[in-house]
Amino acid sequence: MARTIVSIVGGRPAEGTPAGTLSSPNPSRLADIVAEVTLADAATFGGACATAKRAQPSWADIPAPVRGRTVAAMGRIVEANKQPLARLVTRELGKPYQEALGEVQEIIDTCDFFLGEGRRLYGQTVPSEMPDKQLFTFRVPVGTAAVVTAGNFPVAVPSWYLVPALVTGNTVVWKPAEYAAASAMALFDLFQAAGLPDGVLNIVFADGPETFAGLERGLQAGTIDKIGFTGSTAVGARIGGLAGRYLQTPCLELGGKNPMVVTPSADIELAVQGALFSGFGTAGQRCTSLGTVIVHESVHDEFLARLSAAVSAAPVGDPAQDVLYGPMLDQKFADRFEEYLGWIQPHHKVLGSSGLGRISGANPRAGFVGDPEAGLFYHPTIVDALQASDSLFRQETFGPIVGVARYADLNDAIALANAPGYGLSSSIYSNDPHEVFRFRRGVTAGMVSVNNSTSGAEAHLPFGGNDKSGNGSRQSGIWVLDQFTRWQAMNWDYSGHLQKAQMDVAELAADLDYRLKDVAP
Ligand code: UN1
Repeated sequence: MARTIVSIVGGRPAEGTPAGTLSSPNPSRLADIVAEVTLADAATFGGACATAKRAQPSWADIPAPVRGRTVAAMGRIVEANKQPLARLVTRELGKPYQEALGEVQEIIDTCDFFLGEGRRLYGQTVPSEMPDKQLFTFRVPVGTAAVVTAGNFPVAVPSWYLVPALVTGNTVVWKPAEYAAASAMALFDLFQAAGLPDGVLNIVFADGPETFAGLERGLQAGTIDKIGFTGSTAVGARIGGLAGRYLQTPCLELGGKNPMVVTPSADIELAVQGALFSGFGTAGQRCTSLGTVIVHESVHDEFLARLSAAVSAAPVGDPAQDVLYGPMLDQKFADRFEEYLGWIQPHHKVLGSSGLGRISGANPRAGFVGDPEAGLFYHPTIVDALQASDSLFRQETFGPIVGVARYADLNDAIALANAPGYGLSSSIYSNDPHEVFRFRRGVTAGMVSVNNSTSGAEAHLPFGGNDKSGNGSRQSGIWVLDQFTRWQAMNWDYSGHLQKAQMDVAELAADLDYRLKDVAP
């Protein structure tokens, strides 16, 4: 039976249904409704920000090592619930169970990393240019963070924001994707079980327009100090504009058109396995999903033949079984994917499946696992002979589609890798260190994989992109600390008299004209 899910603000359910309700269906069995979601309006969102803001000073007063212990408990509680949470992610988002387990592990890894940060959160002691004076730096929490997340990683990516924000002394209003409401609510419940005081973590379910209006209210009222957003480039640009008007820098993790370059020295089979995983894992709906493979002309035909064979043979279907990928996350992604398929042109060559578009009885996929009519299943598609001016080459195509283009000179491959103007993840398959480092220097992406695919970032390296993929912010590891803290500089003069920096500084006389005499034998 579907569970009814409501926003929780200050530890209490937000009453009423000011913005209506919606259903979150299982995308591999649309008749199975996972949750009925009560939607909040902008006023509720703004109220949640005010609640979080009020709760922040006392949360920040709790010593950071104690907050770190709470993060440790969050990680252990998630670990103890790993299988049921993964099963829910599989049911609500259609992510194959093994991938869903990996997603939950990413939360545990994130908690494991940040539990220790409660005991570090290092500042520096810095020498002064004058005696009897000492300089220091401190990390201070920014205040209240409003975090808006996508549903393709319904629990792992939110944890990348929530965990570091909380351990550094911030309070949070989290707005998950509506179509991932049940998974989000489960993570919220697990985190709350670790003993977070009321109002420290709040969850609000709302649609895009109400959320945007709610962000504006919070910024106006001074109850939002940081926005975190994972989602499309178009919405990220709007949020960036809004935050900029309030002199804030949001943490933006946006789309990608992630290139993979396959050079003549590459292990072709390894590259094929990487393209299969990153092109079609999560049905191509990761922000790190492979966009275009840029293959050297000398190995193009062999690579394409092997990739096409691997994709054609791969099991697609019921995500509870052993499949390469399951359904699209939600109807809106299925609709958009149909538009992307419309970008295929006569000069392209389509490979990888026994059909194109939605898999059905009339448009079957050989070897499909389960009942294709029950859910939002799409044929895997490889499109060869992409040209740099093609929409399929230039735009993100969230879904199970991979483009292939060819190159003759590595400089051209690097130019093609950068041409779409995103800059999240990238990959090169090569056994020549010269090629690898030329690519590393030339590619504009925030993340570079060598002999590994564009997906599969570990939870403690900086994650993030440039240009259309983000504003240069980085999540994960020590790097995300700069998103949720600000540096405060302190100087303490205990000399008992006014010492003026730059003016009252001792100088030792130096003979700058000194030269060595002829020391040759
Ligand atoms: C995302 O798609 O938003 O590197 C995040 C990966 C995962 C995270 C993806 N660890 O593919």
